[in-house]
Amino acid sequence: MTRLQPLKEFPLEPQHNPPPPGARSARPPLRLGILLSGRGSNFLAIAKNIRSGALPNAEIAIVLSNIADAPGILAAQQLNLPTKIHVSKGRPRADHDRDMLATLREHKVDYVILAGYMRLLSPEFIHAFPNRILNIHPSLLPAFPGLDAQTQAFEYGVKVAGCTVHFVDEHLDHGVIILQRVIPVLETDDAHSLALRILAEEHQAYSEAIGRVASGQYEIQGRRYVRTS
Ligand code: GRF
Repeated sequence: MTRLQPLKEFPLEPQHNPPPPGARSARPPLRLGILLSGRGSNFLAIAKNIRSGALPNAEIAIVLSNIADAPGILAAQQLNLPTKIHVSKGRPRADHDRDMLATLREHKVDYVILAGYMRLLSPEFIHAFPNRILNIHPSLLPAFPGLDAQTQAFEYGVKVAGCTVHFVDEHLDHGVIILQRVIPVLETDDAHSLALRILAEEHQAYSEAIGRVASGQYEIQGRRYVRTS
């Protein structure tokens, strides 16, 4: 992740679109707990896709942040979504994560969605949601894990780049891969333009991955995510 600037491309109105009376879904919607620390453009893309129906069978149960004035949490408040802030600064990770877990349980969250959450999770947190925590990373993992992935990729001189949505395990940017999206690196790119084009892919890829998981039609075989329909 690198030099995050506010984005203005998600003009959502602060309203909810409840399903029409009598509407039934075969499966109850997946309740998502969104964790973010910053800009929140991936969260807003997910919120927009849920609202438009492009991401069915999912709802945002709670948006949680470890940073009090994260733009993403302010955007969630403006959308009248449930929000909670547990400031992490100066607190031991295990204590902070226990508070986060309590809030996620209180809101009956099924899946945790890391959307620019800039803090490693404790083992206790990860074990509380086994293969039910998703992350998006702005590189084609396992290449370029960690910070500034887009700049790492650009400076390495790769000819294709992209993003990865994966389950979270105990290791950084390492869990089972759900999907990846690939884009070419253009002769005219610099690290910033490449990061922006990767971000545009992220905004589609994350909802697509959540939709796949919400369908329940997958198995995990070793390190492989396998669709079963
Ligand atoms: C994204 O690049 C994502 O891949 C990484 O953190 C960034 C978050 O951006 N994990 P935003 O806050 O969703 O705009």
